[in-house]
Amino acid sequence: MSERVALVTGGIGGLGTEICKFLARSGRRVIAADLGSRAERLAEFHGEIAEFADRIVFEPINVGDFDDCSSAIKRVETQYGPVEILVNAAGITRDTTLRKMSPQQWADVLHINLDGVFNTCRNVIEGMSERGFGRIVNISSVNGQTGQFGQTNYSAAKAGMHGLTMALAREVARKGVTVNSVSPGYCNTAMVAAIPENVRNQIVAGIPVGRLGEPSEIARVVDFLCAEESGFITGANIPVNGGYFMDF
Ligand code: CAA
Repeated sequence: MSERVALVTGGIGGLGTEICKFLARSGRRVIAADLGSRAERLAEFHGEIAEFADRIVFEPINVGDFDDCSSAIKRVETQYGPVEILVNAAGITRDTTLRKMSPQQWADVLHINLDGVFNTCRNVIEGMSERGFGRIVNISSVNGQTGQFGQTNYSAAKAGMHGLTMALAREVARKGVTVNSVSPGYCNTAMVAAIPENVRNQIVAGIPVGRLGEPSEIARVVDFLCAEESGFITGANIPVNGGYFMDF
């Protein structure tokens, strides 16, 4: 068990909440970092993490704003100590076919899902490297691997996220810092619930295990990658998708 400080962006979201719980169960001090404006969801979140109330705290962050990330991470480090584990789970969708996509829909998704990863990593990487330990896990997506109809923006951002993962992994490999991606398939989250039912049913029919994934099935892989003993896994992408996309 280690008391290391873990910061999870999108920390009160569908996957983020479960990731916070798994890391807390492993003895981490967890910072669930998410938009301060999500007050309604925050109340629910506190109910869901009640078992770990002494280990998980909420911190407002806007991953789309570099300066906001700097100040949020500084506040966290002053209060709890250095961030040694970073999980980038913040993400949005603006699904529509390219012929209908506005420049804003393109930019919003690239900005939050990809620039957001730069904004957080850039603010922790020096400290992790100097201290000789770090774990960064980026939540990418099966749709970054395969491309998805109606998701040119999201697929580009998620594929880009793994490019960032591999490049950064090389830069810090000698410093005790690992950088990996986890690529979830379709899971039981609000994001997937928002897909039109007929489209969603078709997608589920194409998943070999025959069901959506559970957020806990993603979170346990993230927790595994964050372990002290996982130091030889870096630059990897771990697919967790029920067989929806298989490669090697
Ligand atoms: N493949 C091929 N053709 C498709 C298709 C597909 N997957 N989906 C729709 N089409 C066809 C339709 O049959 C229709 O054909 P006709 O014009 O001949 O009738 C046409 O494309 C519809 O095109 P439109 O431009 O009018 O698109 P739309 O407005 O009907 O809806 C969409 C498009 C919003 C993208 C809708 O298809 C959709 O929601 N798809 C799901 C996208 C998705 O999987 N998002 C994932 C969200 S969850 C997530 O992202 C988490 C994660 O990481 C896994």
